[in-house]
Amino acid sequence: MSSRYKIAVFASGSGSNFQNIVNAVVDGNIQGEVSLLVSNKPNSRVVERARQANIDSFVFNPKDYKDRSEYELEIVAELERREIDLIVLAGYMLLVTPVLVERYAGKMINIHPSLLPSFPGLNAIGQAFDYGVKLTGVTVHFVDGGMDTGAIIAQEAVAIEAEDTLVSLESKIRSIETTLYPKVVSWFADGRVTLDGRKVTIK
Ligand code: GRF
Repeated sequence: MSSRYKIAVFASGSGSNFQNIVNAVVDGNIQGEVSLLVSNKPNSRVVERARQANIDSFVFNPKDYKDRSEYELEIVAELERREIDLIVLAGYMLLVTPVLVERYAGKMINIHPSLLPSFPGLNAIGQAFDYGVKLTGVTVHFVDGGMDTGAIIAQEAVAIEAEDTLVSLESKIRSIETTLYPKVVSWFADGRVTLDGRKVTIK
């Protein structure tokens, strides 16, 4: 008997990517289930979204722990208890440590609002806008020990036009994220993604 593919989303903010993935599951576009939300922000919109969608959440305050590995070990216990297959970082504003990275190598992905390796880190949309690049976009990549350095799974580009403002660019990026992240998660649920060194193949 095959069990359903189980996804955990980690998020700290508004949770639009979390919602997009939940919606794709509901619509039958991802063959799996969102089994858990992990968040370090008890009052965030994403925690409320999980409650409304009836999805379990593990919400913690990093200040209650002596170091990162202590709360990550608790997260690992929550993931293992639910037999999570894939960790989806979606605006999770904490760095992950080897406790999670090593246990979930090849099973943890992130979405970043630039065409990596350009503009890693915070405020990627603003960095690209201020730099004056003509093309930017969205990257979905595996998570390794570095900052937005893991093997690239998918990218989608968008042009920055003369009339664009930071606000209009943010909205273009959001609209790419709406379709791209659920699509990539569905590839994982369907077992289509293979990783060989830094080369990712979608079958
Ligand atoms: C998104 O822009 C994503 O690319 C970045 O963090 C943001 C999260 O937004 N990693 P939301 O919480 O999903 O609305």
